[in-house]
Amino acid sequence: MASREIPSGTIFEPFRIKVVEPIVRTTRAEREQYLDEAHHNLFALPADRVTFDLLTDSGTSAMSAAQWGAMMVGDESYAGSRSFARFERVVRDLTGYRNIIPTHQGRAAERILFELTVHPGSVVPSNNHFDTTRANIEHDGGLALDLVTASARDTSSNAPFKGNIDLDRLDDVCRTRRADIPLAMLTITNNTAGGQPVSLENIRQCARIVHDHGLPFILDACRFAENAYLIKLREPGQENRSVAEIAREIFRLADGAIFSGKKDGLSNMGGFLALDDDRLAAEARNLLILTEGFPTYGGCAARDLEALAVGLEEVLDEAYLEYRIASVRYLAEGLERAGIPTVRPAGGHAVFIDARRLLPQIPAAGFPGQALACELYLAGGVRSCEIGSVMFGRSGPDGTFQAASHELVRLALPRRVYTQSHVDRLIEIGADVASRAATLRGMTMTWAPPFLRHFTARFRPAAESAAPLVEAGRAGRGNPEDAEEHP
Ligand code: F0G
Repeated sequence: MASREIPSGTIFEPFRIKVVEPIVRTTRAEREQYLDEAHHNLFALPADRVTFDLLTDSGTSAMSAAQWGAMMVGDESYAGSRSFARFERVVRDLTGYRNIIPTHQGRAAERILFELTVHPGSVVPSNNHFDTTRANIEHDGGLALDLVTASARDTSSNAPFKGNIDLDRLDDVCRTRRADIPLAMLTITNNTAGGQPVSLENIRQCARIVHDHGLPFILDACRFAENAYLIKLREPGQENRSVAEIAREIFRLADGAIFSGKKDGLSNMGGFLALDDDRLAAEARNLLILTEGFPTYGGCAARDLEALAVGLEEVLDEAYLEYRIASVRYLAEGLERAGIPTVRPAGGHAVFIDARRLLPQIPAAGFPGQALACELYLAGGVRSCEIGSVMFGRSGPDGTFQAASHELVRLALPRRVYTQSHVDRLIEIGADVASRAATLRGMTMTWAPPFLRHFTARFRPAAESAAPLVEAGRAGRGNPEDAEEHP
């Protein structure tokens, strides 16, 4: 796709709005009550109590008129549907892979790929594995190894490609653990490291190293278009190429991809596993039939495949990508001006607030990210997601506590959903919270399940600013209602 002339002046949403959905407005008193009822866990809030829902950019895109139109002509035949043929054509044209296998979302592709390739003792290196990728690898007995570049650790560094993999460490692991590695991966963009892109040069070198060791190279490509656009913006020598051309090169450097269509597929559901290896693909199709469905629909309705096929073409429109990346940057810069420290530079799909820097008075055991996420909700009805010691820290039943490496709060921007005035309001809410940052207190976790605790853990505001540890004996077991009865 030819690159368009960059307009001077305000970068505006490159769409008109044809269908609208009301958003709720609530008072602070109501939000206080709702947050109490949700045990200070934003995952437990009914969505109609949320004004700005920035929990995730996944499955929350607004679809275009063309996507809705395509859904109406979806061919729901069980086998050999016309919609599958269209989907396969679009994905193959973009990626170049021989075998295109639809799945209901990204993690279904992960589950099938790793069930076939990962065994107890396997090692799967990547820049950073997303939670579900890691969980699927660990479920099959493997080790999900993160080898992200050292600059990712410094949230204030403006290095342009903090999503990169450390090539020396990758080469080292491939040499020393060669027999245990079924495949190597790269996640583009690197969600765990703050939505940071991976450079084309890093992807090329990664492919060379992995292939020199005779190993397959698989992409977790769900934000490939944002990554390709950031390459065009930031990587010397790439500025005159189209994003589609860069994206095609990226896919062709690898041997396959797992893909969640709920991000850069601009769809509410769908995904795929794409592989060059015919033998592995045949085995994957057999597993697909067991749990997802016949290979021409995977876990999707044909109309989902239609929406995804159109979304994959629309997402490469450079006017869209310019607006998309500009919106994320606009939010990050506005929050910074308001006194909220963010992970720099702004990445592709979200702004990550550094809660440790904003709330230095709250120790990791007082969950500063959770305290901030709750305060953003109280101040303006914003639903965000803690990515810190609630999600990645560990607390034993005896009260021992291990903090996460970062205390972040992610404000993920759904695609084509919020306009600039929404973002301006978010910045005002950020300024209000920043002005009261020194008075905020930590949180006490009153109950947590044994794993993936961020989804269902319960909290209450800590009595002192130096919050106590997770209450001994409560976290990690039991029924949450019991914890409530004996506070
Ligand atoms: N890989 C990455 C990098 C992701 O960010 C996600 C999902 C997946 C794989 C799994 O895809 O949800 O379709 O099964 N990320 C969402 C998020 C949930 O909020 O970041 P899925």
